[in-house]
Amino acid sequence: MLSSIVALVAGQPAQAEDVHSYARLNQVSTPHLELNLTVDFEARQLKGHATYTLARHDKTTQLYLDTSDLTIERAELLIDDQWQPTKFTLGDVHPSLGRELIVDIGSVAKQVRIHYQTAPTASGLQWLTPEQTAGKKHPFMFSQSQPIHSRSWIPIQDSPALRLTYNATITTPKGLLAVMSADNSLSDERPGTYEFAMPQPIPPYLIAIAAGDLAVKSISENVAVFAEQYILEDAAWEFADTPAMIETTEAMYGPYRWDRYDLLILPPSFPFGGMENPRLSFITPTVVSGDRSLVNLIAHELAHSWSGNLVTNASWRDLWINEGFTSYVENRIMEALFGERRANMELALGYQDLLDDMERLKPQDTVLNIDLGTRHPDDVFSQVPYVKGQLFLVYLEQKFGRDMFDKFLRQYFEDFAFQSISTEQFKKYLKRQLLDKQPDTVTMSKINEWLHEPGLPEDAPKPTSDAFTQVEQQMQRWLKGGQLQTDKWTTHEWLHFINNLPLDISANNMARLDREFNLTNIQNSEIAHAWLKLAIVKKYEPARERLRSYLLTIGRNKLVSPLYRELAKTSDNLKWAREVYQQAKPGYHPLTQTVNEALLYGDN
Ligand code: BES
Ligand code: ZN
Repeated sequence: MLSSIVALVAGQPAQAEDVHSYARLNQVSTPHLELNLTVDFEARQLKGHATYTLARHDKTTQLYLDTSDLTIERAELLIDDQWQPTKFTLGDVHPSLGRELIVDIGSVAKQVRIHYQTAPTASGLQWLTPEQTAGKKHPFMFSQSQPIHSRSWIPIQDSPALRLTYNATITTPKGLLAVMSADNSLSDERPGTYEFAMPQPIPPYLIAIAAGDLAVKSISENVAVFAEQYILEDAAWEFADTPAMIETTEAMYGPYRWDRYDLLILPPSFPFGGMENPRLSFITPTVVSGDRSLVNLIAHELAHSWSGNLVTNASWRDLWINEGFTSYVENRIMEALFGERRANMELALGYQDLLDDMERLKPQDTVLNIDLGTRHPDDVFSQVPYVKGQLFLVYLEQKFGRDMFDKFLRQYFEDFAFQSISTEQFKKYLKRQLLDKQPDTVTMSKINEWLHEPGLPEDAPKPTSDAFTQVEQQMQRWLKGGQLQTDKWTTHEWLHFINNLPLDISANNMARLDREFNLTNIQNSEIAHAWLKLAIVKKYEPARERLRSYLLTIGRNKLVSPLYRELAKTSDNLKWAREVYQQAKPGYHPLTQTVNEALLYGDN
């Protein structure tokens, strides 16, 4: 109550401020964008212009945009159907937010156009030489805009509280294909100019582009895979269950609202597992394992079509609204399609990752509605918004029962469709639509504990898995010299096994494991990661060369940074890691570079 009075007096909007954007959405917003860009691989730049439709909410004559590392050439206004030059100024460089761009928009113009080019160092783009691709003949580029990197390739009101539609004309060298988070064509032609439309309003961090020597293969009528030829068939096989995932999610949470759902397989330097760019999820090739064991990633990115893309976090303090809901929905999809045993194992693996992260985080950074200040959201990335957020929803599901909770969620996706929502808005909605309907089940103070206190509430769900209990029993027998029965083990059991081996395991037992199961050379990227991390801790030298080649060929940050973090703990390993890093660096994405340089050269 007090805060809303203060807000009124100050003339501020009712919604929570987004401290990570210079945009002043309550004065003027930009509901539509027309992009016209040329992809210049030689200069490693995007060049062209962005045109915005203006929606004026007060008498302001200035538009505040976010930029980072952009060169602004000129700005124009559309007045009486004529483009006329207008003044602009750039603010000082802020280390995490970039620079504000203030454009004079007068009081009558309905459109504004910015001519600009990106820097080769743009934080939201990666440029790969032909040698860095699998095909070796053509270059490749892609964007990763979430959370605040759109501003490094488009001057934009870069806040997730904004929603905009977009059209784009993209020019590439002939023979290459450009794709976007929009209506991609399945045609085989590669004319070098491509038109896109995204008619549904999306937040700016979901604008995405990639260009390269891409081929396409349909999985079903509305699902296709885009990839370099070398992995196209394997990826189409790996992700064959995607159409069933869509049907399952629709049955639980309402219609899929984005028309097609395609997958783009990126080069191994893609810094994330996946990114939920609408209509076209971006996917790491490291989940194409040949046994469909890592397809929860697809369930996750698909789930964002409801949680995140349809109902969006209003600021990066509310990231759990995207990732916690999505992790919950992901696990429900996995349960519906592959059964409770697998879903439980995945939840238990996530829980262990959460506990590991919470151990190294400051208590205040384990809060769901986190206080970021103006820190860069990338610097605070952890499992907290994912798994703690997911456990919060599992908790509510257990308290209210699945039927009631499913109905609540379905209605939530309907009521907030194409809107951005803050933690405070969610709390009000939750109280009205769930807590008050069945009083004395969960108190508001319990909700506040989940959302605003560090750590986990005492009565938080503690995920367990029968399958993992059996793995632990086998481990005990094996440690005493017995045999392991692993023929029925999936990737999940192996991960649990390796992650829970006693840290005083003998060198002899390490070698014995490797001899029997060839773990050093295993091709599954997640199992290899777990094994290599243990090998560093245990100083198991036979894995050294494999560790080097792993770090040189994979750039997915979740798979490489825990290895560098472990290596940085001893001076010999740190020296070795720095050498490997310098060799790997040209192939790493800017995000992977920043995070790992902090680990190897930072003062922490
Ligand atoms: N949207 C995220 C990636 C992201 C989050 C980028 C925040 C930048 C800021 C994506 O959906 C994601 O969560 N990917 C995970 C998938 C995993 C949890 C299955 C990943 O990349 O590991
Ligand atoms: Zn996600």
